[in-house]
Order: sequence, then C-alpha cells, then structure tokens
Amino acid sequence: MADDRPIGIFDSGIGGLTVLREIHLRFPDEELLYLGDTARVPYGSKSKDTVVRYTRNNIGFLEAEGVKLVVVACNTASAYALPEMKEHKGAPVVGVIQGGVEAAVKITRGRIGVIGTEATINSNAYQNALARFSHGIYVMARACPMFVPLVEEGWVDNDIARAVAHRYLADLRGQVDTLVLGCTHYPMLKETISQTLGEGTRLIDSAEETARMVGLELDRLEMRASEKKKPPRVRFYVTDSPKRSMEVARRMLGQIDVQEAEYVDII
Ligand code: DGL
Repeated sequence: MADDRPIGIFDSGIGGLTVLREIHLRFPDEELLYLGDTARVPYGSKSKDTVVRYTRNNIGFLEAEGVKLVVVACNTASAYALPEMKEHKGAPVVGVIQGGVEAAVKITRGRIGVIGTEATINSNAYQNALARFSHGIYVMARACPMFVPLVEEGWVDNDIARAVAHRYLADLRGQVDTLVLGCTHYPMLKETISQTLGEGTRLIDSAEETARMVGLELDRLEMRASEKKKPPRVRFYVTDSPKRSMEVARRMLGQIDVQEAEYVDII
C-alpha cells in the first residue's frame, strides 16, 4: 500500500536543499518537508554535544509533523549525532555519509580526498567508514570552513569563491582521483571545485548519493508514495527570518514548486 506521509529533510541551513532537489527529481510523487535550522547555522564549528542536541531537536520537530522518514541532509549532524542515535525509536533516519563512501569506493583508483566542515573531518566519520569498506585506499581529508558561508551568501562562482577553493585545494590537484563533497553545501560549488582540481579528479556529490539511499530505504520499508498528477509542493520551514533563505532557496531549486519559507520556533 502507498504511504503518502511526507519525507522530512533537515540541515543546519540551506545546504540540504541540494539533497532535497535530488530527492525531488528522483521521486517526484513524494511530499517533502524541509527544515533549515538557519538560526543555529553553522554546525560545522560547534561541539559534538551541541550538534547532537540540535539534531534531536530537529528530528523531534519533523516527527511531530508526521514524517515517515527523516533525512539528515547535513554531514556534520550525520557524523556527530547519528552514531549516538542507534536506539532512536521514532521515524527511520537516513544520513549522508554512507552513500558518498560507497560511491567513492566504487570508482576510485585508490586515492580519495574528502572535504567537509571542521567537525565532519575531525569526527573521522568518513576516514573510518572508508577504512571499513576497503583496505589499501589512500585517504586525504581536509576541512574547508569558508565554503559554507560562501554558499549561504550565494557566492559560488565568483573570484572570491575561486580564490578560496584554490587556497584549500590546489595542492590536492593530481593527488586524488576521487573527491567526496562531504558537506551538503558543497555541491553548489561543484564547478569551482572541479576547475581547481582539474579533470583527473571525479567529484562525489553527497546529495545524489543520499537520494539513491533514500530510494533504497523507501523500498525496504515499503513506504513509496502513490503516483500523483503533479509533484506535491515542497513545505519549507526555517528557524530564523524566512526572507533571506527564500531568495537562496529559489536560486538553488529553480523550477521546483516550493511554498514560502515559514518561521518555526523550535529552539
Ligand atoms: N551542510 C552542513 C554539512 O553537510 C554544514 C554546514 C554547517 O557548518 O552548518 O555538514
């Protein structure tokens, strides 16, 4: 039987909309509900305890809205909080790390780079997952903290974005054959990152990989939505002023039908 309850997706800010976009493109019949915790962004420079607390709080909000599945569209929250939530009793939860790791291992010739927030890189979540999956792979992990504010500002392909990418990544050119974008903000900088690293490095977009994982989970749990004539409108909530988020969201989501961002007081 079809399950028409929404899928809940959250991130610290608007970066998780890259994940929402991929889920929407693959599964247009699914109703999607997005929460951007814009009052508390960034998560990437916060302590583990704080990120775990915010994550539980966000999941609680989505569950109260009646979602059938939660997508933690934030690598920082996936890295810090998901291992702490193994006993979670509510809606099933999908993170963003596993999909990226599997995709990277499939295509690499042995040298993988991982970039993410300070928290994600310091947590060693990717490094450990890659080591579990496959032996003998060389992994180079690097935090790129300035990328998140650039994306939140919409500065993804100007001189400043190119200069920052060069500063963080120029020395990885020729050193890694595969680069995992271990932050859901980074797919917005794909072109700029790709130019910096050159054609010899393939980028793994955690948004695409997470959408693939969501499909597998929906099938496993027999939770696919019924066919619709028209994709349901995306519901969009933020924890800070909606105006700014809406402008960036429109730029990121293009043609996708999304409701005006609505402020929610969950903190
Ligand atoms: N989008 C979040 C991630 O994937 C990071 C943004 C932040 O630092 O809050 O890690």
